[in-house]
Amino acid sequence: MNYPIVRHRRLRHTAAMRNLVRETRLHPDDLVAPIFVIYGQNVKTEIASMPGVYQWSVDRLDEEIAELAEAGIGAVLLFGIPEHKDSVGTGAYEDEGIVQQATRRIKELAPDMIVIADTCLCEFTDHGHCGVVHGQGREAVVDNDESLELLARTAVSQARAGADIIAPSNMMDGFVAVIRAALDEAGFEHIPILSYAVKYSSAYYGPFREAAQSAPQFGDRKTYQMDPANVREALREAQSDVDEGADMLMVKPGLAYLDVVRLIKESFDLPLAIYNVSAEYSMVKAAAMQGWIDERAIVMETLTGMKRAGADIIITYHARDAARWLRG
Ligand code: PBG
Ligand code: ZN
Repeated sequence: MNYPIVRHRRLRHTAAMRNLVRETRLHPDDLVAPIFVIYGQNVKTEIASMPGVYQWSVDRLDEEIAELAEAGIGAVLLFGIPEHKDSVGTGAYEDEGIVQQATRRIKELAPDMIVIADTCLCEFTDHGHCGVVHGQGREAVVDNDESLELLARTAVSQARAGADIIAPSNMMDGFVAVIRAALDEAGFEHIPILSYAVKYSSAYYGPFREAAQSAPQFGDRKTYQMDPANVREALREAQSDVDEGADMLMVKPGLAYLDVVRLIKESFDLPLAIYNVSAEYSMVKAAAMQGWIDERAIVMETLTGMKRAGADIIITYHARDAARWLRG
């Protein structure tokens, strides 16, 4: 009888031994909590497809910020739902816009909380696209260069309101360059850009579009977001953003794109974020509510997998719960 010389189980005997050899560790500092801010007063509305996630009015943000800070979360990603939408997304770049108001409020409530502003137009346009649209129906096109100017204005007004990081998610070509130039010109050369560099056109954004009321009213986002089948293209997308001055990169969605996370991590040396998007959250919640899975174990395993794949920063709707679980 030949007994095994190599016994992998030697390092798995006890919890202490497993802790000693663990390769990947999650920490609350890694996590970013998205927040949806809506116009109005005294609003805290649960999003039907995202149990445990709410739309908050600015005057109720203290509750959410206190809970996140208490759990040890140090950064939030802001999305806004304006009272009025129009064809050019005016609400995105008004100094009294919903994201700008929320940013000022959060910095007042918790000066150390990092506010990341999502820079896009889709929540603010009546057609729901991420840029300016010309033509109608099948003829409609999202005009790249015309959108850039509005995105730059949005970023500057977010920085003026106190945003610590600008996170453009619009997928127009050249957005990092114009936003960088506009920020610099306005005196915000110290504000970093977290680029949604590698963003796929994904069905996993479904619940978010309910939460942010940002579904496109016609067509889809396939002419500007990436084809899920492509990975070499991710290198080109990331490279151009690096060349244009991005400080951090993002891959989005998360779960179905961990190979892309690994590739981008190995190809670039910038901090890398992954976005564990809305439907990834909703699927876990739905199964957990049925009693089919162990929510806590599933969430920790998933977030660990994202970090193991190469993400330094994880944007997740599970942030508060995960931070609490990590603290035990
Ligand atoms: C908007 C934006 C989207 C998400 C983040 N920013 C939706 C989209 O592109 O349609 C998705 C986030 C999620 O699903 O949690 N540009
Ligand atoms: Zn958008």
